[in-house]
Amino acid sequence: MIAIALPKGRIAKDTLQVFSQVFGEEFCFDDRKLVLEKHGFRFMLVRSQDVATYVYHQAADIGVVGLDVLQEQPCSVMRLLDLGIGKCRVIVGEHRDTPIDYLKPKIKIATKMPNITLKHFSQKAIPIEIIKLYGSIELAPIVGLADGIVDIVETGDTMRQNNLIEVETILHSSAHLIANTNSFYEKKSQILHLCALIEKHLKL
Ligand code: PRP
Repeated sequence: MIAIALPKGRIAKDTLQVFSQVFGEEFCFDDRKLVLEKHGFRFMLVRSQDVATYVYHQAADIGVVGLDVLQEQPCSVMRLLDLGIGKCRVIVGEHRDTPIDYLKPKIKIATKMPNITLKHFSQKAIPIEIIKLYGSIELAPIVGLADGIVDIVETGDTMRQNNLIEVETILHSSAHLIANTNSFYEKKSQILHLCALIEKHLKL
């Protein structure tokens, strides 16, 4: 049995679709169930920020997680494969009418990714104050809570519809397959076989 942690939402759906296509049968969670056992796999649905924790503690052998999430909360897990799904970018954004004034002694950046944000601006020697938010980041510069944002962009619709523009891209992200180090060695042939099947399918 291989235990697999999936992040609730689109990435879980897309990953299960890949499994359905690879194994020729449907992988689908029942209603509000958080565990699905099928074909020698135990899938579990968790918050995306928790995937690496489940894998690190070996509650899951492998997991699917965005590079952005891994970068924000570095965790000692093995990176196996880029699944090429859940593609997005982490960007710096500002309001079209009130661009970030870099001459200010300290600019305020709203984000749900404080670690990526701090690292990015400290590498540029730009002093910032983090305004930690949990969602609707784009609202912050509109109402004067922050001078700019660091956030995820997928289609760009949220930024466009709220009159925000991208200043720069910090990171290109996509969902990766990760593994617990012990699990990898204990179940090496099964995990590598699974990776090979998925990789072959992704290249088709
Ligand atoms: C994410 C992100 C942006 C939006 C980008 O938010 O923080 O707000 O998606 O997507 P787009 O470029 O396709 O418009 P999410 O949907 O996770 O909601 P949140 O506001 O709760 O963070």
